[in-house]
Amino acid sequence: MIDKNRIPKHIAIVMDGNGRWAEKKKLPRIAGHNAGMLAMKEIVKKCSMLDIENLTVYAFSTENWKRSVEEVGGIFKLLVIYIEKELKELHENNVKVKVLGDYKKLPKEAIASIEKTLEITKDNTGLCFNIALNYGSRAEILRAFKLISKELSDGKLNIENITEDTISNNLYTKDIPDPDLFIRTSGEKRLSNYLLWQSAYSELVFSDVLWPEFTPEELEKAIMEFQNRKRRFGGR
Ligand code: FPP
Repeated sequence: MIDKNRIPKHIAIVMDGNGRWAEKKKLPRIAGHNAGMLAMKEIVKKCSMLDIENLTVYAFSTENWKRSVEEVGGIFKLLVIYIEKELKELHENNVKVKVLGDYKKLPKEAIASIEKTLEITKDNTGLCFNIALNYGSRAEILRAFKLISKELSDGKLNIENITEDTISNNLYTKDIPDPDLFIRTSGEKRLSNYLLWQSAYSELVFSDVLWPEFTPEELEKAIMEFQNRKRRFGGR
């Protein structure tokens, strides 16, 4: 059973395995992403029910542009479909949506859907659902370097005053606590340029389940594994 008093405040997920799920079923890759979107929908609901404060999902990385035009376009179409279908319910459930990454490079329909969602849900106080879109940790850290350098050259910041918080505050995750639990599905054991700065002390849980088959029960299992870990943050 999950200990309701030790729920992770922030869960980050690499939703991996959509392609292999589709291949196994002899379906096109986009059918795997569609099934992945349905799995994501259930995980968002479950996180809301468990009173988790933050859920961050890796939906599209800065490296995913290397995929075929059909697959990339298909993922963005799914994003728009998801938003159009779910926005009302997300809002009713008091979910606040944030986007991490350079989403302005996405197709214009996707940008419009994203901006509508950000605006409508901005004052909600329940689950903060963060969608990483055109996101990569190294690009995020490079962006922070540039923002901080600009403050230095404008004379708004002194080099002696740069702290770890200065860096955190210039990342897309500003105002979001670091992930307590980092989940990757599909049996792969890599971080894949996801939340590298933020996950310094996250507990990593690797599930062999392909993302479309990652049910709320699988999430509960990952949370129980997290609750069995001893977190020391470098101390003893
Ligand atoms: C990784 O599986 C998954 C992705 C790159 C896309 C994730 C997208 C969704 C879950 C659905 C769409 C939802 C939104 C919000 C856009 P993979 O394709 O790398 O799987 P593989 O490793 O088996 O090939």
